[in-house]
Amino acid sequence: MKPFMVVLYLFTAVSFCNAGGSRFSGSQQNAEVMKHLKRLNKRPIRSIQSPDGDIIDCIHISHQPAFDHPFLKNHTIQMRPNYHPNWINDMNIKVTSSPPPSSSSSLYKDKGIVQLWHVNGECPNGTIPVRRTKKEDILRATSVKRYGKKKSFTTVAQPSSTDPDNISQNSHQHAIAYVKGEYYGAKATMNVWNPKIQQINEFSLSQIWILGGSFGSDLNSIEAGWQVNPDLYGDNNTRLFIYWTSDAYQATGCYNLMCSGFIQTNNEIAIGGSISPISELHGSQYDITILIWKDPEEGNWWMQFGNGKVLGYWPSTLFSYLTKSASLIEWGGEVVNTAANGQHTTTQMGSGEFPEEGFGKASYFRYMEIVDESNSLRDPKDIGIFTEQSNCYNVQMSTDGNWGSHFYYGGPGRNPNCP
Ligand SMILES: *[C@@H]1O[C@H](CO)[C@@H](O)[C@H](O)[C@H]1NC(C)=O
Ligand SMILES: *[C@@H]1O[C@H](CO)[C@@H](O)[C@H](O)[C@H]1NC(C)=O
Ligand SMILES: *[C@@H]1O[C@H](CO)[C@@H](O)[C@H](O)[C@H]1NC(C)=O
Ligand SMILES: *[C@@H]1O[C@H](CO)[C@@H](O)[C@H](O)[C@H]1NC(C)=O
Repeated sequence: MKPFMVVLYLFTAVSFCNAGGSRFSGSQQNAEVMKHLKRLNKRPIRSIQSPDGDIIDCIHISHQPAFDHPFLKNHTIQMRPNYHPNWINDMNIKVTSSPPPSSSSSLYKDKGIVQLWHVNGECPNGTIPVRRTKKEDILRATSVKRYGKKKSFTTVAQPSSTDPDNISQNSHQHAIAYVKGEYYGAKATMNVWNPKIQQINEFSLSQIWILGGSFGSDLNSIEAGWQVNPDLYGDNNTRLFIYWTSDAYQATGCYNLMCSGFIQTNNEIAIGGSISPISELHGSQYDITILIWKDPEEGNWWMQFGNGKVLGYWPSTLFSYLTKSASLIEWGGEVVNTAANGQHTTTQMGSGEFPEEGFGKASYFRYMEIVDESNSLRDPKDIGIFTEQSNCYNVQMSTDGNWGSHFYYGGPGRNPNCP
C-alpha cells in the first residue's frame, strides 16, 4: 500500500484573498494571519492527507511549536518520564474489561480507537504528527490572538458556587464528577460520541480537568478529552484535544499545539485529529483512556492515551500551582449555550441522552482514578457531582458492574423542562 503524500509546502503558497464572511479585513490583518500561520505550521518532513479533510504534517520533533516559548528555548526534550510507576501499564488489563453485567455485553466493542489519517501513511521516528492549521481556521476566531484559546474561565465548573439563581443563561454548562484534595494525576476511560452542535460558536466536549489554585485570575488547568468544536476545526468531527492555561484562560495556554507549551514526543497520534469509530445509540460502544500524571523527579505532567501511548508532557515551568500538585480534579462534559433566540441551545452533551438511560444510550466515564501523595494510582474518595441545570444536562454516579468508580452524564439541552 503506497501512502499518499503531499510533499509540497502548501503554506508558503496560500493566496492572499480575503475569505467571504471573515471577521477580519485589511491587508495588515491579512499579514498578521499569514505570520501566525507560518508560526504554527512548521516545515514538514512529510505531509499526509487524511480522508477526513485534515492534512497531517510530520514535523521534526525539535521544531515543534513548544520551543517557540521563551522558557523552553533551551529545553532538552525528555523522550520518556524519568519515573515510570508500575501502574502505568495497568491500563492494558482495565481497557479490556467488560461492560456492567446488567447490560448486553455484545454492545461493547473492545477495538482500538484509531485516527483516520493512518490509512494514508505514518510519521517517521524523530517527527511528530501535527494537524495543519488552515487560513480559514484562524479567520473563524474572533482575533488572531484568540485563535486556539477557550473564551473564558466559566469554562471550568465551580462546584462550590452552586447557587442556581446565579447561573447565567448565556454560558458554559457542565455535568461533572469531581474530587478535592492533593493530587499528582488522574485517569479515566471515557465513552466517545458525536454530539450535535446547534450553533457554529458552540461546542460540546468530554474531558478530564486537572486544576490548581483557586478560581481567581491565576487558575492553572491541564485538560484532555474529546470535543466537537466547529468554530475551532471547521467541521463537526469528534476530535482528541488537550488544553492548558496558567492564568485562567487569559493570556496563557491554548488547545493542542496551537501555541507553545505541550511538548509532544509521540509519532503516532495527532492531537486535534479526528477519532473513530464513534459509539452509536443501542449499538457498539467505544471509549478512550487518558492518564495524566506528574513525574515526581522533573515535575513535568505527562499524558498517556489508550494502551501505553505516551503522547508527551506539559513542562512544569509553564505553571504556578501545578508545579507542586493539583487541588481539584474534574471528569465530565461541557457545552457552550449561546441561548440564540432566547432559548436554551439544543447542543447535546455526551450522547445527547440523560444519564438514567444507562449503558448503550447515555455516555459514561469509567475507571476514574487519581494519583495520590504517595504516587499511587487509586480510586478517588468522596466524589462529588455537579451540574448547573440538571433539566438540560445531568450526571449520575453508578454502582453497577465492575467498572471501578464510574458515572453517566449528558443530555439533549433544550427540551420541555429546559426551555
Ligand atoms: C542555552 O544554554 C546554553 C548552555 O548553557 C547557553 O550557552 C545558551 O546561551 C542558552 N541559550 C539560550 C537561548 O538561553
Ligand atoms: C522507530 O522506533 C521504534 C521504537 O523505538 C522502533 O521499533 C522502529 O524500528 C523504529 N523505526 C524506524 C523506521 O527507525
Ligand atoms: C454571582 O456571581 C457573581 C459573578 O460570578 C459573583 O460576583 C456574585 O457574588 C455571585 N452571587 C451569589 C449570590 O453567589
Ligand atoms: C455541523 O452541524 C450543524 C448542525 O448540527 C450544521 O448546521 C453544520 O452545517 C455542520 N457543519 C459542518 C461543517 O458540517
